This record gives sequence, C-alpha cells and structure tokens, in this order.
Amino acid sequence: MLKVLTVFGTRPEAIKMAPLIKELQRHPDRLLCRVAVTAQHREMLDQVLHLFQIVPDHDLDIMRPGQSLFDITRRALDGLEQVMAREKPDLVLVHGDTTTTFVAALAAFYFQIPVGHVEAGLRTGDKYSPFPEEINRHLTAVVTDLHFAPTATARDNLLREGVAPEKIFVTGNTVIDALLATVDPHYRFGDAGLAGIDYRRRRVLLVTTHRRENLGEPMQEIYLALRDIVALYPDVEVVFPVHKNPAVRGVVQEVLGELPRVHLIEPLSYQPFVNLMNRCYLVLTDSGGLQEEAPALGKPVLVLRNTTERPEAIRAGTVRLVGTTREAVFNETRLLLDDAARYRQMAEAVNPYGDGRASRRISQAILYHFGLSDEPPEPFE
Ligand code: UD1
Ligand code: UDP
Repeated sequence: MLKVLTVFGTRPEAIKMAPLIKELQRHPDRLLCRVAVTAQHREMLDQVLHLFQIVPDHDLDIMRPGQSLFDITRRALDGLEQVMAREKPDLVLVHGDTTTTFVAALAAFYFQIPVGHVEAGLRTGDKYSPFPEEINRHLTAVVTDLHFAPTATARDNLLREGVAPEKIFVTGNTVIDALLATVDPHYRFGDAGLAGIDYRRRRVLLVTTHRRENLGEPMQEIYLALRDIVALYPDVEVVFPVHKNPAVRGVVQEVLGELPRVHLIEPLSYQPFVNLMNRCYLVLTDSGGLQEEAPALGKPVLVLRNTTERPEAIRAGTVRLVGTTREAVFNETRLLLDDAARYRQMAEAVNPYGDGRASRRISQAILYHFGLSDEPPEPFE
C-alpha cells in the first residue's frame, strides 16, 4: 500500500488537485490517499473543498489578512513539518507554483520523501514575472522526483534544464478534467445578478486580476481602460469577481466602484464561475488557470501581463498577451468589440492543455513508478 500525501493551499491548486484526489481514491487496494491543506487561502479554498466534497485530513489554517511571502513560508513550513512527521507518506504530491507548493516540496525533501509535481515545467524565463511563482516552480523542480508536465512544451523546458526523461510524464492539465466535469450548457445561476444578465444581447467581459507584480499602478491602468470601454460601448457589461486580497480590492473600488454596467462581485464558486465564463464574450485576466480554461470554451482571452508561461493557446490564436498599460488594454479590447472577423478567429475552441484524462495518467504514472502496475500511461499529445 502506497501512502500519498497531497498538499495544497490556494483556490487554483484545489481546483486542479480535486480531480486527481478523486482518481487516487479509486485505487483503495494500492493507494492510501491523505490530504493536507495549508489554507494559504481560506474562503476561496473552502469554496472548492465544498464543491468537490474533499475533507482534508490536516488543515493548517495559516491565512492572515495581507500576509507576506515570509508569513506564508514560515507558517506553512512549521505546520507541514508536523504533518509529514506524523503521516510519514511514501510520496508527497504538490501542484503548480504557489508558496505552499514550494514549501511542501521543501518539507518533503527535508524528510527525504519523494516529491511528485503536478503541472511541472511551466516557465517564463523571467525571475520576477510572475512573482514569486516563476522561482517557486524552479525551486520545486529541483527536489521533484516525478514531474507531471501538462504539455510537450513544459516537458521540453524540463529536458532543457537537465531533468532525466524517465522522470517526466506528459499528462495534460488536470484543470481540463475539472472544467469538463463542471461546465453545463443548461446551468442556471443561483445568484439573481448573474441570472438577470441577458447574455445574448449584452457582451459580457469577464475580468479577474490578482498577480503580485500587477498590484498598484498596473492594476490601476487596467481598470482605467475598462472604465473607458464601458463608457464607449453601451452593450458591454463587466463582471468582475474581485479577489479577496485587500491590496486588489482597494484599487478596484477606487477606479471601478459605483459604475453602471460594472458588476464588482465576490469570488464565485467554481461551478457558477466556469459557467459564467462559458457565457461571456471575452475574458480579460492575469490568471494562469483562466488562460487554460477559456480557450477550451472558445472564449478569447486578453492576458493582462507582460509574460506568460502558457504559450500554447497564444500559438493556437485564442489568447493574446497585451500587457498592463491603459492604452494597450483599451486598444486590444476595442479590436475584439469592433471587428467581428477578428473575434470569430480568436473564438475558435482549442484545447492544447488537456483532454479530461490528466488525472488518470498521473495516477497511472504513480502506480507504474512504484511498481504497482506494469503499464506506464500513454502520454498526452
Ligand atoms: C496566491 C498565490 C498565487 C496564486 C493565487 C491564486 C503565492 C505567493 N501566491 O496569491 O501564486 O496565483 O494565490 O489566487 O503563493 N485572502 C482572503 N481570503 C482568501 C484568499 C485570500 O482574505 O480566501 C486575502 C488575504 O488577505 C491574504 C491575501 O488575500 O493575505 C493574499 O493571499 P495570498 O495567498 O498571499 O496571495 P494571492 O495573491 O492570493
Ligand atoms: N475561479 C473561481 N472563481 C472566481 C475566479 C476564478 O472559481 O471567482 C477559478 C478559475 O476557474 C480557475 C482558478 O479559479 O480555475 C484560477 O484561480 P486564480 O486566478 O486565483 O489563480 P491562478 O490560476 O492565476 O494561479
């Protein structure tokens, strides 16, 4: 029996680990699946745990308002030392690039426990963008034994860094597993505000921002561009579930508060959120996950950042990297509102990130690696 401890702490990690946890639980004869959350996020994490009915075995409850990177690192490391000492797992699974991810990998290394990294190999090549995620990924990769690369591009990044090919499995991204299980064309919004929007006559811009390197002036520029767009297009509605970070909320309220056709709402649970994405016209975001989900739903994405570690959908034509200046965000949004042919070209549904079977490949790779199965998974092409 192989004991697998899955560790995560934020909303996107939870969304992307949930389908994998369900898959691991399908092998109770060979795998014992334990879950620890740092709760680097609280409410936003709990929304996901509730939706996917995951009850953690350990909850470190570390989140504090306005926490620094030092706060998260210290508190997570302290808590995970105790959890890992008690659980003594055979494998620790981490996801992506948050501070929880890096600290969990470090804690596992200190106990000399093998590490499996889900969503491995994403790179921008820019140390400070995204910050601190780009370096969290590198630090995690150094102690990782099993790299679950979502795409061939991610695999190639790892190979270039000298990771042995037999340690890498190309699996697809588990976010597509979660998405396909959650999107429903007949979904009805419980929220009266969202249910009340006429998605056929109105053009809904779905907006999210939270990156640390965008706090302050870049966010202000982005919101000013949105204000200009709303003033110019009477059929445009902005729906903006505002991240809980108080540093985001301050600027949002200052620039976009009290504007007609701008809906500033609380973070949505994953189910209404992806179904809202499925009905919107266009996505503007600095999120990583949205760059993967929106293309699968045929929604163009304007990425409000200067770099991205997800070049696949840009190559496919569904995503554009526009930066964070007021002028660029305004101009690029206008192009998609004014030019129907351009919009149609970008709104081609493409799925470079997964086929809904990533979790199955990862669990198969784990069983294979530990000699519990003879069959390695077929790589995601
Ligand atoms: C974190 C991750 C980032 C990831 C993002 C996903 C790090 C350093 N950053 O950034 O990689 O893309 O999550 O959203 O790991 N807050 C709440 N309730 C919540 C969540 C957050 O009140 O449920 C507030 C708190 O005041 C908290 C602040 O938001 O201190 C920032 O949270 P934090 O996890 O430090 O950073 P994020 O920007 O969310
Ligand atoms: N998401 C959500 N509710 C929201 C906003 C986003 O459930 O109000 C989901 C979204 O579908 C995606 C994930 O959260 O799966 C992205 O999280 P975030 O943008 O916070 O982090 P990132 O992906 O940039 O690390």
